[in-house]
Amino acid sequence: MEADKAEFEVWSREQRGHFEGVAEAALDAREGSLGTLTEAMRYAVLDGGKRMRAMLVYAAGRLTQARESDLDELALAVEYVHGYSLVHDDMPAMDNDVLRRGKPTAHVKYGEAVAMLAGDALQPEAFLRIARTQVAPAVKVRLMQELAYSSGRDGMCGGQAIDLLSVGKSLNEASLRHMHSLKTGALILASVRMGALAGKPELFAAAEFELNRYAKALGLAFQVIDDILDVTADTATLGKTSGKDDAHDKPTFVSLMGLDAARKLAREMEHEAGAALQILAAKGCFEDMALRLLAGAAAFVTNRKY
Ligand code: IPE
Ligand code: IPE
Ligand code: MG
Ligand code: MG
Ligand code: MG
Repeated sequence: MEADKAEFEVWSREQRGHFEGVAEAALDAREGSLGTLTEAMRYAVLDGGKRMRAMLVYAAGRLTQARESDLDELALAVEYVHGYSLVHDDMPAMDNDVLRRGKPTAHVKYGEAVAMLAGDALQPEAFLRIARTQVAPAVKVRLMQELAYSSGRDGMCGGQAIDLLSVGKSLNEASLRHMHSLKTGALILASVRMGALAGKPELFAAAEFELNRYAKALGLAFQVIDDILDVTADTATLGKTSGKDDAHDKPTFVSLMGLDAARKLAREMEHEAGAALQILAAKGCFEDMALRLLAGAAAFVTNRKY
């Protein structure tokens, strides 16, 4: 399945614009005593980010013909969890970063206590968004399971714990893949699965195996590229401080295998994702454009500059 770069760019720009409006409305401002907490939550989610996880929800949901309003809720849910994970990841007890999405990190702007609570509040509110979907009750439970599993001990939080425990150690490739698959891969896999689960059950069943293969490859490519950009891109382009993995002595794909081999691995993962989509295309029951958008997302992830 060939990606069409121009098509993906036009679609994702439009879809991102749509999502920003949805997020702005969802995280409505509050006056009075909840004002600061709400402001910090809005700061963590609005106005920034590539919205890669939201894009995956929309593209995978298109593949199984999900309702657009349900995909809005699921896109919010994954971006809330992602936003919360970034707020906590940046805090002094974790990566101790001062810049995120071109702005001071949430704890620099609002203080550690408010930043921590903003992350805490975004997490359950993500599940409230799922509760608002109009999918069948059993599917709703399934969607909640997907998000809970992918962000908990066996997903993002587990990966973050391994990341912190691995400072100063050199992990082998298998351990590094495992860490990346949890800290970043799990939520990316969940984004794809949740979008697709919201659609027609028969289309989800026909797509599930290859979609998992696609999303796992994409998730690994995503974090490998994040590791590469930390070394090769500058702070202004990234909107976050570059060079910090090395400064913090974190094991990454670059420290393990060097830049060229890491780039090659990302490229291989893009091909792996494409091969999975090819099999879906051969089934003949999926819309070509949805498959091209998923291919476009994979190409974007490996070729991104920030
Ligand atoms: C950064 O994620 C943290 C990782 C999991 C690698 P993104 O690169 O998706 O961050 P935003 O949302 O675009 O800012
Ligand atoms: C963070 O990984 C993954 C998360 C779950 C937030 P990094 O620590 O490498 O992300 P950046 O580089 O700070 O965005
Ligand atoms: Mg980190
Ligand atoms: Mg970090
Ligand atoms: Mg990083």
